[in-house]
Amino acid sequence: MRALVTFVICLEMVSGAKLPTDIEKCRYGDGNCIKNTINQLIRRYPKGLPKLGISPFNDFRPGDLQLFQAPQVGSMWLNFKLINQVISGCENATVTHVSGFQRDPTKAKLEIGLRIPRLVHRSQYNMQLRWLSMVQTNTTGPCYAEFQNVSLTLNLKVIVRYRQEKRYLKIYELMPQLELGRFFLELGDLYQHNLDLTLAVNRVYRENWLELWNDIEPKVLPSFSRSGVQLLNNIFDTLSYDDMFL
Ligand SMILES: *[C@@H]1O[C@H](CO)[C@@H](O)[C@H](O)[C@H]1NC(C)=O
Ligand SMILES: *[C@@H]1O[C@H](CO)[C@@H](O)[C@H](O)[C@H]1NC(C)=O
Ligand SMILES: *[C@@H]1O[C@H](CO)[C@@H](O)[C@H](O)[C@H]1NC(C)=O
Repeated sequence: MRALVTFVICLEMVSGAKLPTDIEKCRYGDGNCIKNTINQLIRRYPKGLPKLGISPFNDFRPGDLQLFQAPQVGSMWLNFKLINQVISGCENATVTHVSGFQRDPTKAKLEIGLRIPRLVHRSQYNMQLRWLSMVQTNTTGPCYAEFQNVSLTLNLKVIVRYRQEKRYLKIYELMPQLELGRFFLELGDLYQHNLDLTLAVNRVYRENWLELWNDIEPKVLPSFSRSGVQLLNNIFDTLSYDDMFL
């Protein structure tokens, strides 16, 4: 049985993964067509296409994220980690522009622009804080974050690898640029014995969302861009560049 399964998997690998027939293929470099095709793919397959390495758009689960990690010495330090992250809302993303993707993909700059009306990020946080030699906590609780009116531009740098005489892309760098309409963060159970204080701190976050976002963006973006590279490389590793286009 196992041998048979392995055999079938090998056959599939040799024959190569193909785009579904209801998805329009484009000519190399036709940014407008590629844009429409990706939008079709997102609309028709919100749960992704496991055969092509495409994960669900409505349920993106990046790995754990260590936001702050300070050595536990001195009078002030902060460790902050997000675990079990689940992001929804990518199923409502719209690709707004695509450039590059010429016959030789390394020739021109690869850029994909996206708009996402609302991204909801749910996770569990774990925080250790020491402040003024007095406050020391090991707190864990639910973390809820929401990003509204997200404009995302992805700049990709790729290399081309050959397998069975077909070209496969591999991303070695992804530089995201992010613009936000609004950012919203809520940490539950922040002070387990003081709900008022928890609410007050969350109110401060809400009222100062821009400053808060500016502080954490440099920590968050590289981590999400690593997840994005992984996500896209799963696709590029499954579907050859030659099979993506006419
Ligand atoms: C995505 O769009 C659907 C339909 O408009 C909506 O019900 C859903 O709440 C949206 N998802 C998010 C995370 O905003
Ligand atoms: C904090 O709590 C977590 C789980 O509640 C535990 O795994 C961790 O060892 C604790 N860390 C410290 C420094 O007490
Ligand atoms: C988000 O965009 C919509 C439509 O462009 C706009 O009406 C709304 O005010 C924006 N909201 C935020 C928080 O930027």
